[in-house]
Formats: sequence, structure tokens, C-alpha cells
Amino acid sequence: MSSTPPTPALRREKQLAMWRRAMRSMPGGTNSNFRAWGEETVYVDRGKGGRVWDIDGNEYIDLRMGYGPAILGHADDRVDDHVNERMRLGSTFSLTSEDEVRVAELIKELTGWVEMVRMTVSGTEATMHAMRLARAYTGRTKIVKFEGQYHGVHDYALISVTPNVMDELGDRDNPVGLVWGRGIPQAIAETIIPAPFSDLDFLRRLFERQGEQIAAVIVEPVLGNAQAIQPRPGFHQGLRALTREFGILLHYDEVKTGFRLARGGAAEYFGVTPDIATYAKAMGNGYPAAAFGGTREVMSMLPEKMSHGGTYAGNRVAAAAACKTLEILRDTDALDTVRRTGERVQAGLSQVIESRGLPYVFTGHPSMFGIMFTEQVPHEYRDWADSDHDLYDAVAAGMHARGAMPEPDSREPWFICEAHAEGDQVDRITSIFADALDAALEVRARRQPTGAHSGSAG
Ligand SMILES: Cc1ncc(COP(=O)(O)O)c(C=O)c1O
Repeated sequence: MSSTPPTPALRREKQLAMWRRAMRSMPGGTNSNFRAWGEETVYVDRGKGGRVWDIDGNEYIDLRMGYGPAILGHADDRVDDHVNERMRLGSTFSLTSEDEVRVAELIKELTGWVEMVRMTVSGTEATMHAMRLARAYTGRTKIVKFEGQYHGVHDYALISVTPNVMDELGDRDNPVGLVWGRGIPQAIAETIIPAPFSDLDFLRRLFERQGEQIAAVIVEPVLGNAQAIQPRPGFHQGLRALTREFGILLHYDEVKTGFRLARGGAAEYFGVTPDIATYAKAMGNGYPAAAFGGTREVMSMLPEKMSHGGTYAGNRVAAAAACKTLEILRDTDALDTVRRTGERVQAGLSQVIESRGLPYVFTGHPSMFGIMFTEQVPHEYRDWADSDHDLYDAVAAGMHARGAMPEPDSREPWFICEAHAEGDQVDRITSIFADALDAALEVRARRQPTGAHSGSAG
């Protein structure tokens, strides 16, 4: 490790100046809390394929891909040319275009179980409406949500999402509904029942006590916002059976997994048919397209019995992007390429980590995976605390400095796109990771001469 190359210096002058300027007009200098990284905030110039450039001209292999949407790659010519052509016909009429009908048909075709669809603009809107749909259909109020899952930024979703300190989630057998930030009425928070992921016994006890009040279970089929942690084998089949037994709807939030884990998303991947699903991200390759859908029976609440609308819902740009992206995912082997590229990246990382003698587990699916420095295969959010995520965070920062950009927070998975298969990107990711890992281990060794790491508990 003594030959670890020095950390290259990123150019930051323009971004720092932009950050100072933006801080005068935008809280945190950004349009989302999740992008506000203080003085390290990245201001992007452009992206192409699997790469992105900031306004200082630094180039990175992008492993965030906008938190997942750009499944084909940034600025994909096939999608962009189609959108450009369609948008010249006008974008927003608050009337319905054939593109929107086509999107619904494609979602039905690709999933094989969704029978009716409504488009929204964001994943947040999709989950908000889908939760209302479950309540409208069942006449029940409560919704079960798993700890560590993120379903967007509406009031019903911001419960028990990503605390750093696991104690805040309360006793595992009786978790508290931890509200994320101010401004969420307690009465709303109380309609959400938090549960540990992947624990069918817990759910059976809960349903036996309160099943008659529960409209739905909303689930990210893998913990897409907590390293893409997978449930225990059989969990999804068990969850499907249990929800049916108690007359509770099963809502797959496929905003991250949809059209990524398989053409039919996580429902196809796990072989489970939910009642409701929400989609966004990969369906529009970066354009703001989203949707909720479900069985004809459940969706029959619309339009008479339940509210849903939106000036921009199904706007031309989003609908055209979704049409083209979904057609590409249906007609080409793009998803195979994404999976195989993810497997190649994982193989490279495995060699690097194993040769350094560190324990590790890959979580998730090769197309969106986390790297956990731990001996134990995790099955729920609380397990994240037992991994050496401080080491991961140091590696992520080191990768950023060396020209690859995973999210600085270990909970966000790496996202692979079709364009990452091009050129030497896979090899570069591996060598950048190796250098960043060595540098992080060297810093740690200087701090802890024994070489022992302190498993960082949340
Ligand atoms: C599973 C899941 N649901 C919902 C959302 C919210 O989507 P959006 O950011 O488009 O509002 C996200 C965003 O990351 C998500 O990962």
C-alpha cells in the first residue's frame, strides 16, 4: 500500500463560485436537499453516455446516473431525437395525446400484469396517488411502510426513512414512526405503520392485530435507497400471500427497480404479481416521466371515485421519452447489457477487495448494487449500521477525486447504464476503486496502527 498514488486534485474554482452565488438564491445552493453537499456541491455542465462533466471541466464515470433514471445513458440520441421531434408539436395542452396512450400500452405489455395506467410527473406524485388509490379502494386508512425505504417527499412517505442512528427507529418489535423533518402533521404520520423489512412473522402479528385498518403495504422490492438490500428468500411470495389473506393491497414501488431489474421490473424478477405499482426513473431515461398502475379492478376508482390530475401529467416531452425508452428496453438487449456490465464491474471490485483481505457483500442486483464492508448478508435497513460504512464513504470520496462518481452516501446504490459497457469504463471503474480503497485504508492505518477497523455503528 505504500505505493498508493497521491489523490489527484479536482478543479473546483468555478463550482465554488457557483455554490456561493447559488447560496444567495437557493437553500443549500440546489433544488434538492439530496444534492446539497456544502462546498463539495457539484454543478454539472453536461453528460453523455456513462460520463458526466462538471463546470470546471472535470470528467467522471457517473455511477449515480441521476439516482437511476438514465438507464441507457445520458443524452441518448435515440431518445433525444424522438423527443425533439415530438416536442415541436407542442408540449402541454391538458388534452390527451396518442403518446400517452402508447405509454400505458407499453407499461401493460412490459409488465404483463398492469391493466390500467395513469401518468404523473414524478415518483413522489406516483406514490402519493397510489397510496390514495389503496385507501380509496379498501376504505381503510393505514399503510404499512418498511424502515429504510424511500417513496418520495410527500407527507405520507417521509416516515422512518434513513436515520443514521438506529435507536431512533425504536424497538424492532414495536418500531416508532420517525418523521423526517418538520412540517408533517402528526395525524398523517400516524396513518403510516413502520415495519422492519423482510420479516414475515412481524407482519403476521401486525395484520392479526390491525389488519382491518390496513389498506396496503408499500414496498420497494429491494431497499433501493439503502444499498439495494435484498429481502430474505421467499419474503416477496410470503408477503403476497399474507396481504391476500388479510385483504390488504400490495403496492410495489418500482420507481427504482421498474424496467431495470427486468423488463417487467421487480415483479417479474421476483415472480410476484402485486395489486398496484409505481414507476418513474428508468421509464423516461432522465425525462420527468412517471406513472402508477394496477389491476383494472383497483384502478376502477378512477376517474369517478378518486382524485388524480396534474397539468403536466402525460405532457408530450415525458410521454415521448417514455415511449421511446420503453420501446428500446422492449426491443433491444439493453437490459442484458446493463446486467452483464454490472456483473463485470462487480467481478473487478471483488478481485480488488479480496486481494486486500476485507469482508464484503454486494447487495441488490448487478444493475443497481451496493457494496457493504461486512461479514453478514444484510436483510433490513438496521443491518446497514453494522457495516463499515465509514470506509465505504471514504472510498466514495476518493473515487470522486479520481474521476468516478458514486453517491458519497453508502446507502445509495451504484447505477449501471447501457453506455457503461462502452470503451474501457469498466476497467477504469475498477482501477479507480482500487486506488481509492488503498488510499482510504492507508489513512485508516495511520489513524489506527493496529490495522483494526472500528465497525461504525450508525
Ligand atoms: C423507490 C422510490 N420511490 C419514489 C421516489 C420519488 O421519486 P421522485 O424523486 O421522482 O419524486 C424515489 C426517488 O428516488 C424512489 O427511489
